[in-house]
Amino acid sequence: MSCTIVVGAQWGDEGKGKIIDILARDADIIVRYQGGNNAGHTVVVGEDHFVLHLIPSGILHKGKTCIIGNGVVIDPEALLNEMNMLRKRGVKVDGNILISESAHVILPYHKVIDKRRGAKIGTTGRGIGPCYVDKMARCGIRMADLVNKDALKKKLRANLEDSKEFDFRKIYNVYSIYGRRIKKYLANVSVVLNKAIAKKKRILFEGAQGTLLDIDHGTYPYVTSSSATAGGALTGTGVGPTKIDKVIGVVKAYTTRVGEGPFPTQFETTLLDKIRRKGKEFGATTGRPRRCGWFDAVIAKHACMVNGLSEIAVTKLDVLDEMEKIKICTGYKYKSKTYRDFPADIDILDKCTPVYEEHDGWMENTNSVKKYKALPKNARLYLERLSELLDVKIGMVSVGEKRKQAFRI
Ligand code: IMP
Repeated sequence: MSCTIVVGAQWGDEGKGKIIDILARDADIIVRYQGGNNAGHTVVVGEDHFVLHLIPSGILHKGKTCIIGNGVVIDPEALLNEMNMLRKRGVKVDGNILISESAHVILPYHKVIDKRRGAKIGTTGRGIGPCYVDKMARCGIRMADLVNKDALKKKLRANLEDSKEFDFRKIYNVYSIYGRRIKKYLANVSVVLNKAIAKKKRILFEGAQGTLLDIDHGTYPYVTSSSATAGGALTGTGVGPTKIDKVIGVVKAYTTRVGEGPFPTQFETTLLDKIRRKGKEFGATTGRPRRCGWFDAVIAKHACMVNGLSEIAVTKLDVLDEMEKIKICTGYKYKSKTYRDFPADIDILDKCTPVYEEHDGWMENTNSVKKYKALPKNARLYLERLSELLDVKIGMVSVGEKRKQAFRI
């Protein structure tokens, strides 16, 4: 590994936290490049469960530098709380975390606007979208402003000029305290990363959410407001495309999504309950039950293409252990046409009938499998079919939530 990007290749929650945690062993630096505390990366270390929202999952390994890039939007309160939680649980967070001076700050009004307007999309309500709106409208407040009293005062005052709802003084006071507490972590992340690359350091770029939630390549408007695809790793950190060696896409062996929006392969109630229970499919950030469905090769193929995936990691294969028959969606039928490529028209996704192929399940427990060859034959056939449909190799398979329950191929 030198420079590797890890992205979600579905609608998020693919199990990136665990894959990044495994890959982090061989990395020197782990860097988050987009999103904010809407993400929830779950990592199980021994009997301990960690859910990380902002700080890269690599923090759970000693001796690594963890970076939050300029493409991330930061709620300072959430950041400081997460640092405290980690400190209390014995994880080192001082001297090993750097935060981009150019990352944008989530302010109280972003959260209020999000809660008010985000219901239609089913947002996490963390202020992510409105913060990116201000960034694009060029009135955002960045981390560098948070530690510069005059800049913070001027920008905050301008943003709250006509507001009767938000008290400038109150927000200014609280946020300048956050600024003082965060100041020591701030850095010119682009310079740090490019110098590290020149010294042949190994860098892991940690994506949040997933390709189908990407603002450009996802199921717009039912998306998050950032670039969750591999391109976001470049703009979100200030590292150029020629420096990247590998892009790994993480897919679940089936599909899930939280929030609103089309989901062609969603299960009917009986299967939904079964998979949701077995796969513990509840949002790591909001606790909302996730919608579940069969593996959708159309969206996964789209993810392979727009991210230029070098390989995929398949997670939660064990959740399908008790399924007699397993389906894979290979196309969408809409009106008289069959679509094999991901359509931009959301109406097609919403109203289409999925075209399925059916496979025999393996009906065996795979939780303790440690190598590919030891998987039941039908599980291998299922994985091989996924690889064939997506035209990408499978580099890793995960068969449980613990670190040990995964193997490389
Ligand atoms: P937002 O990112 O809070 O604006 O929410 C926009 C959409 O993205 C909603 O459907 C959320 O449920 C979804 N979303 C945001 N973050 C995640 C995530 O980490 N995993 C899965 N879905 C997410």
